Amino acid sequence: MLNPSTAMSVEGQRCLCVVVLLIHTVTGAGEGPSSPAPSTTVRVDQNELTVSFPPLEDLYSHTPEKQFGTENNTVVTSQTGSTALLPCIIRNIGDGIVSWIRRKDYHLLTVGLTTYSSDQRFQAIHLQHSEDWTLKVRFVQKRDAGIYECQVSSHPPTSIFLRLDVVEARAQISGPTEKYLKPGSTLRLQCSVVQTTEAPAFVFWYHNSRMINYDVERGINVTTDPAQRLSDLLIPAASVSHAGNYTCVPNNAVPASIYVHIFNGENPAAMQSSSPSSIADRFQCLLLISTIIVLR
Ligand SMILES: *[C@@H]1O[C@H](CO)[C@@H](O)[C@H](O)[C@H]1NC(C)=O
Ligand SMILES: *[C@@H]1O[C@H](CO)[C@@H](O)[C@H](O)[C@H]1NC(C)=O
Ligand SMILES: *[C@@H]1O[C@H](CO)[C@@H](O)[C@H](O)[C@H]1NC(C)=O
Repeated sequence: MLNPSTAMSVEGQRCLCVVVLLIHTVTGAGEGPSSPAPSTTVRVDQNELTVSFPPLEDLYSHTPEKQFGTENNTVVTSQTGSTALLPCIIRNIGDGIVSWIRRKDYHLLTVGLTTYSSDQRFQAIHLQHSEDWTLKVRFVQKRDAGIYECQVSSHPPTSIFLRLDVVEARAQISGPTEKYLKPGSTLRLQCSVVQTTEAPAFVFWYHNSRMINYDVERGINVTTDPAQRLSDLLIPAASVSHAGNYTCVPNNAVPASIYVHIFNGENPAAMQSSSPSSIADRFQCLLLISTIIVLR
């Protein structure tokens, strides 16, 4: 008797629970977003209105002066192939519009954020609410060197001028362009990247046409320090197979080459035979023989 009745009352309680829950969620849904929320946002709007807008006469009498934050006649140096950034910071620009003009041919490069040049390497960089209207020039070339004008529209327009200098980074292997070594001796080549404005991302070494950076099993050790713009090639025990043309190739600079001769230590004449002096010796010898023949 007890069991069925309790079971039924449990059923009944469950049902009541569901109904209460439904009512709660329905009224909750009605109350939550619709009634209180709009009233608070209205209040927020009213607050913003009174706080952010001072009386009009104040606004006009205290208009701050437009001012360049970048020094006039600033010089920017970039290496060929890199990205040059010509800064132009303008304080209190108001509704002024910034244009970049290349002075050597009065070519209009950008207006606002729009590139007018057909050369899409030029781009104005400006983050919303920032005061910076930097001109970005990608893949800088020697012909990009010169004066650039950052102009702000106003009455009359005001400008600053920046000079872009372009340097050509190049690799340089220390020592003479030809090296003579005996087999078994240590070959050490040091390559430095000079005239750079940015460090190389990588430096490859070539032996003739083969890239040898990772040829550890062939007795070659390459260590590169990009921050110092240095790369070292070390062959602790050079053999005849290591002779040839070595080229240092930084990713962003003109390469450099050196020629390594490995001659047999027992027979140094092998090295001399290819030198011009031995040809001269032979010629003199031939002359001597011919004079002897003539004298007879
Ligand atoms: C920047 O210098 C140029 C002359 O080099 C001058 O004509 C120009 O008015 C200067 N701009 C500012 C904002 O002083
Ligand atoms: C390569 O040479 C550097 C020094 O230039 C040395 O520290 C390193 O241990 C060498 N690596 C090998 C595999 O010989
Ligand atoms: C060495 O190799 C470089 C790159 O391939 C080449 O420009 C240079 O002429 C070569 N030098 C010699 C002496 O073969």
